Amino acid sequence: AAAMAAERGLAMATCTAPVNIAVIKYWGKRDTDLILPINSSLSVTLHQDQLKTTTTAAASRDFTEDRLWLNGKEADVGHPRVQACLREVRRLARKRRGGGEDMAALSLSYKIHVASENNFPTAAGLASSAAGYACLVSALARLYGLEEELSEVARRGSGSACRSMFGGFVQWQRGERPDGTDSLALQVAPETHWPELRVLVLVVSGEKKPVGSTAGMQTSVETSPLLKHRAEVVVPERLAQMMQHIQDRDFEGFGQLAMRDSNQFHATCLDTFPPIFYLTDVSRHIIALAHRYNAHHGHTKVAYTFDAGPNAVIFALADTVAEFVEVVRRSFPPATNGDQFVRGLPVGSAALSQELVAAVVTEPLPGAVQYILHTKPGPGPQLVDDPSQHLLGADGLPRSHA
Ligand code: DP6
Repeated sequence: AAAMAAERGLAMATCTAPVNIAVIKYWGKRDTDLILPINSSLSVTLHQDQLKTTTTAAASRDFTEDRLWLNGKEADVGHPRVQACLREVRRLARKRRGGGEDMAALSLSYKIHVASENNFPTAAGLASSAAGYACLVSALARLYGLEEELSEVARRGSGSACRSMFGGFVQWQRGERPDGTDSLALQVAPETHWPELRVLVLVVSGEKKPVGSTAGMQTSVETSPLLKHRAEVVVPERLAQMMQHIQDRDFEGFGQLAMRDSNQFHATCLDTFPPIFYLTDVSRHIIALAHRYNAHHGHTKVAYTFDAGPNAVIFALADTVAEFVEVVRRSFPPATNGDQFVRGLPVGSAALSQELVAAVVTEPLPGAVQYILHTKPGPGPQLVDDPSQHLLGADGLPRSHA
């Protein structure tokens, strides 16, 4: 199809890609240009029915310049990380063709147009750059007919993006080589491995993050002795333990370690000088709530993790979701009438016992949680076959949306 389109002078490919949430966090680079991390990390890929980026990449002999649109608005295609991804995909395509002008291959000299959209608000502070770069690389790879492993290319867009190139449970191994050829993502287990696992994103109200992750982690590398200890000693041990917990579907072990690793990441932020604060009072209320809830039940029923922002991501097994969602609703009563408070996968209703309420729901904070998104682990990037789903029209420009 790409070849036929190329004869007409326009080729197009559309892909979707997921968000991922790390349970062993990446924080710190040893090479800022190649995006090589100081430690390996491990994440869960979230389902694209709830959170995804869609990207269309097109090439045509009629295009006069490379162009990029993000959520309908033209953006800077000259961004160094966008350029790094483009350059690497084109380099692989050239290598693959071995210089020969076989097939009606899409000319690598054609300019490209790229349009990308999220199905969730960017302002929600969810890791949109990971899904964005994973999607850009997937769509470009399709356009040029590449089939090889591309996490190394996605990594050049954003470190965490390499983990969005796979579904389920994914490790980004730090690698040893200075050129980064062994710093790539590997699937630890597919999304079907742990069918009962659920994810609740608690989107908190208010402020945006003060320091971006790229700048923040660089200051941490330069100033935090705790981060150095974490990368050298703590993470290697934890990574092995986390892989085992996932293999065993051991929620107690998985949840405890996820919480500890999130807490240590935020401790390295406090150990950074000047310090960085991503957690807010609402984040800390959610942490305390999770611990009271687990203490009431006598074991780990829910586990929180926080990235470079105040939103909580909660892991739980399916049979805990309805009760915990009700606990969150009682602890953070919705400001509005609450009809959109719970989004995503359906959540059943649960009646809370008086004992549970007395032990767990202390001092409600009205309006502090905007909404809850219920999702689960999901697959990696997908090709979109249906041409009506392309974000670019036959003229190579973004389609207007109704
Ligand atoms: C806290 O991948 O956004 O979410 O590589 O500079 O683009 P760059 O940083 P980014 O950092 C993510 C940091 C984190 C932890 C994680 O996802 O592992």
